[in-house]
Amino acid sequence: MEEQHQDIKNVFCMEGGQGESSYINNSQSQSRNLKMMLYVLEETLDKIQLPRHRPGKKPLLTAADLGCSCGHNTLLIADVIVDHMTKLCGTGSLGSKDDDGLELEFCFYFCDLPSNDFNTLFHLLPQQAAAARRYFAAAIPGSFYDRLFPERSINVFTSTLSLHWLSQVPEGVANKRSPAYNKGKVFVHGASEETGAAYRRQFRSNMMRFLHCRATELKTGGAIFIVSLGRLSSTRGPTDQGYIYEVYGGMFDDSWRDLIKEGMVDGEKMDSFNVPLYAPTVEEFKEVVDTDGSFKINQLELVMASPPVVDDPADCGMAGRMVANYVRTLLGPLIDTHIGWVMADELFIRMQRHAEIRAEELVDEMCFPHILCSLSLA
Ligand SMILES: C[S@@+](CC[C@H](N)C(=O)[O-])C[C@H]1O[C@@H](n2cnc3c(N)ncnc32)[C@H](O)[C@@H]1O
Repeated sequence: MEEQHQDIKNVFCMEGGQGESSYINNSQSQSRNLKMMLYVLEETLDKIQLPRHRPGKKPLLTAADLGCSCGHNTLLIADVIVDHMTKLCGTGSLGSKDDDGLELEFCFYFCDLPSNDFNTLFHLLPQQAAAARRYFAAAIPGSFYDRLFPERSINVFTSTLSLHWLSQVPEGVANKRSPAYNKGKVFVHGASEETGAAYRRQFRSNMMRFLHCRATELKTGGAIFIVSLGRLSSTRGPTDQGYIYEVYGGMFDDSWRDLIKEGMVDGEKMDSFNVPLYAPTVEEFKEVVDTDGSFKINQLELVMASPPVVDDPADCGMAGRMVANYVRTLLGPLIDTHIGWVMADELFIRMQRHAEIRAEELVDEMCFPHILCSLSLA
């Protein structure tokens, strides 16, 4: 059987460019929800310490956004950091107020996997003259599950809507001979206990690695702000990712089955495709942070996001297209790699049909729970 790329490092990204299913055109609802959580980013910034600067040299704040993608949200985060830190510096509350009246300088690193459309992102950056630039910017291609920066070089990390992506499809999940084989499904939701356990193990090992790398890269007094998908605890454990995954997973599975029924792909193509996405509970998240031991938790909670605003809720065609585009922006490149873009087109045509039929329910249910977390280096 043909296996799915186990390591998604070289293929995974959001849809780039500026087209109908691009991330830039399908991240408005994420942006609206993110804005409600940015007060925790400001509280995180209040906790960081900047080193005392040397006379005549501007103090520098280095920040890195992990999983920046190619939309406006990463720039929104950078703006909040510049505005808030400039305000703190002006009030002298950083303890590093510059007697010469020099302002803070900012260096932002936008990090994502190498397949990310960094060009689209950099075209969004304000095109000011160098002298008026609010910050210096650079792209860092690589996985946030690996080391990305030199030791003690970053003051603040942010990672929004990215950490629920695992580094790979968990071991055994796409292997027919494994008890964790996820036959006939593409998500962990509703899968067997063994599949659920494999996903949980992958999440734990990824998160441990993430925290270990960040603890090494942060400067003394540094901090991390995280927003990722999360889930409510349930007795069914990881195989109950929440009703939202039941609704969306069901629509996704049905679209695959349509292709199989129509003879366009064989069943094994579906069985060998799995989405490496895991929404942890607050307890699972806390357990990994505690086990790692490098960070103090300032804040950790589950926040319910609100559903997207649809211009005309009665227009099922429009709502269905919005849902299909939303799913394609997230999963398109992964599916293209697995079945080729011609078949991927066919899959998303079927998905749009299913989405049009269930438009009202899909839009109402599109309110994902999020883990909202602030950590400081212990
Ligand atoms: C939904 S986008 C979030 C973009 C942006 N942070 C926001 O809030 O809108 C998730 C991003 O995480 C990136 N990503 C997933 N796994 C990654 C990894 N291991 N290392 C770096 N980036 C990763 C994806 O490529 C994608 O661009």
